[in-house]
Amino acid sequence: MRFLLTLFSLISSSAVAATIDIPIETSRTALVLRVDNDGHLVTVHHGKRLQQTAEYARLRGITHLNEGYSEYYNSVYTPAGSRNLLEPAIQATHADGNPSLDLVYVRHETKPAGTGVTLTTILLKDPQYAFEVTLNYKAYQNEDVLESWSTIRHTEKKAVRLQKYASANLYLSAGQYYLTHYHGNWASEVRPEEVQLTAGMKVIDSKLGTRAQMLQAPMFMLSLNQPAQEEQGEVVAGTLAWSGNFQFQFEIDPYHNVRLLAGINPYASEYTLEPGRDFTTPALIYTYSNQGTGGASRSLHRWARNHRIPQGTGDRLTLLNNWEATQFDFDEPKLVDLFKDGKKLGVDLFLLDDGWFGNKFPRNDDKAGLGDWQENKAKLPHGLGYLVQQAEAAGVKFGIWIEPEMVNPKSELYTKHPDWVIKLPNRPDAVFRNQQVLDLSNPKVQDFVYGVVDDLFTKNPKLAYIKWDCNAVIYNAYSSVNQTSHLYVDYVRGLYRVLEKLRAKYPTVPMMLCSGGGARVDYGALKYFTEYWPSDNTSPAERIFIQYNYSAFFPAIASCNHITDWGNFPIKFRTDVAMMGKMGYDIVVSKLDANDLAFSQQALKNYGRLKPVIYQGDLFRLQSPHTNDVGSVMYVSEKQDKAVWFSYLINSRFKAGSDLPPIRLRGLQPGKRYTVQETNLMPGTKSPIDGSVTYSGDFLMTVGLNPAVNDRRTSVVLEISEAL
Ligand code: GLA
Repeated sequence: MRFLLTLFSLISSSAVAATIDIPIETSRTALVLRVDNDGHLVTVHHGKRLQQTAEYARLRGITHLNEGYSEYYNSVYTPAGSRNLLEPAIQATHADGNPSLDLVYVRHETKPAGTGVTLTTILLKDPQYAFEVTLNYKAYQNEDVLESWSTIRHTEKKAVRLQKYASANLYLSAGQYYLTHYHGNWASEVRPEEVQLTAGMKVIDSKLGTRAQMLQAPMFMLSLNQPAQEEQGEVVAGTLAWSGNFQFQFEIDPYHNVRLLAGINPYASEYTLEPGRDFTTPALIYTYSNQGTGGASRSLHRWARNHRIPQGTGDRLTLLNNWEATQFDFDEPKLVDLFKDGKKLGVDLFLLDDGWFGNKFPRNDDKAGLGDWQENKAKLPHGLGYLVQQAEAAGVKFGIWIEPEMVNPKSELYTKHPDWVIKLPNRPDAVFRNQQVLDLSNPKVQDFVYGVVDDLFTKNPKLAYIKWDCNAVIYNAYSSVNQTSHLYVDYVRGLYRVLEKLRAKYPTVPMMLCSGGGARVDYGALKYFTEYWPSDNTSPAERIFIQYNYSAFFPAIASCNHITDWGNFPIKFRTDVAMMGKMGYDIVVSKLDANDLAFSQQALKNYGRLKPVIYQGDLFRLQSPHTNDVGSVMYVSEKQDKAVWFSYLINSRFKAGSDLPPIRLRGLQPGKRYTVQETNLMPGTKSPIDGSVTYSGDFLMTVGLNPAVNDRRTSVVLEISEAL
């Protein structure tokens, strides 16, 4: 009801005389903006929603908001060059050379934008120039998630130069701030680090060009007053929906409030905006939680499944990939055998990886052929159509690897279209994994990339899966056809244009967002992809951490967890770790011994039963692998009638794990009774956990249970079911 009452509030500039409050609310949270007496828009509250909206008016005077030398500290979109003394959200040089901005409130409006979603738009205008900014806030009521972006436009006589154009400029007030940010490298992605913010600025950014992530990931948890805790305390979790260079700035102002600026990295990206055109920034996706990082993750997961990831509430295909098994060395008979292996194992699909294309420059290693998307005649004389048919005959679907944004210098594509390649004149070519990046700011290149995929589907309508890779960063950023300072922005926009067009034509095909060289995981790209590749590092010992870290922001249904030979762990341990998300295989099935094969076949059947809860359930991180001998997570169905509980031994020291105190479960209904049964047991082994006992949810959450993890039981999967 309250939700309905806030709709359609339309206020015009004539009302600016008195202060105007603009509450942007979800079920449990509120961001309250205010137009002050000068017409400037400031933040007065960001956190838990007040029960009585009228009390937002009382926020006045409680803190030092809107004071200080510049009166801009709590500006909702801080302009540069006028009275502002702190980091700006927007910086522009007008057509006449004036380098300053003032942004004054004109009007705002809140209207429905789908079931349970409102869109608030606030128009700000420079009083001296025909320059305006619309701030957009999508509020997802049930998920408590906000999506903020800005649209910049002008009708000045000539172009305006934009030096900075943030997506959001948040303002939070607390005693202390603890920032968890995520960094890494190839095979060691998204390692969290928590730091207390001090006066001054902390900047997290990336300049990789083709994706946001590898060294720094575009996501953060900002914990208020205390270091982040899993199930209590206030946190704001945010991530930028942008697959290119990003920048997060956290600045503590003189009143000890934190100003948070998030958006495209302005580095080497001055944008010339012609009159009458819109510049739309990507969105910052964020949520406020007063139930710790766990609460924030569950909100983001729900939002991603319901509103962002294609088929987020649907199913996923299990698959067998041939990369770790064959690398580039395969032919038709070998592949046909692998199809049969896939069927024997019990997966849904076979995924043919790199190495299937290139003739003049055959793709027999990563040094040649990239860009030449024709079947390699020596390896695949009968073409892909034959493989699709043979897979079908074997009883599995067929999917394929591509990396259409990239090119090897040794390729026909490079020879034919050197101007399509991002490279600098007067500098030697620089390669990353022996390859370079195509200039996706060029519409001809966009057409080419679209054509690669469209062609595959046109020729092979039964193609059932795409793994879309991206193994290079942009070196020598320069476009031979477009303004180079637009390249970083327009590359990503070009990529999205291609993906948008592909999704319009192929809305349901599952696609994996992969970037072997350090991952590419963000909600800009995940609008088009059903799943993502967290890391090339598939050692389960590492994946326990990597998957756990991504789970702060991204739901299990999208996390491609493959069982490989990396690290030589027992098959059960590998499987149990992979089962925490979207499970797949990249092993030589014929090399599994009878026991391991029987275990795997049964595990796939178990997975078929458990995956609805893993995919759609609420995630509770019970024990962090970072600080415990045993890492433990559980997924609970919405009806709280089923749960799956995973526990892993992290530490191999003497007696590690074996004398655990019980682990308290979460998310169950105290009044319901549950059985706890071990699953994924190796053939012939017995569980020490008595599956016939029933426990109340209250007992399991108050006292807990010991999953009996030890050096002989290094991973344990427990299935919790309501006793009927
Ligand atoms: C990347 C991917 C791998 C594989 C190779 C193929 O590294 O992450 O899974 O597809 O490329 O070259």
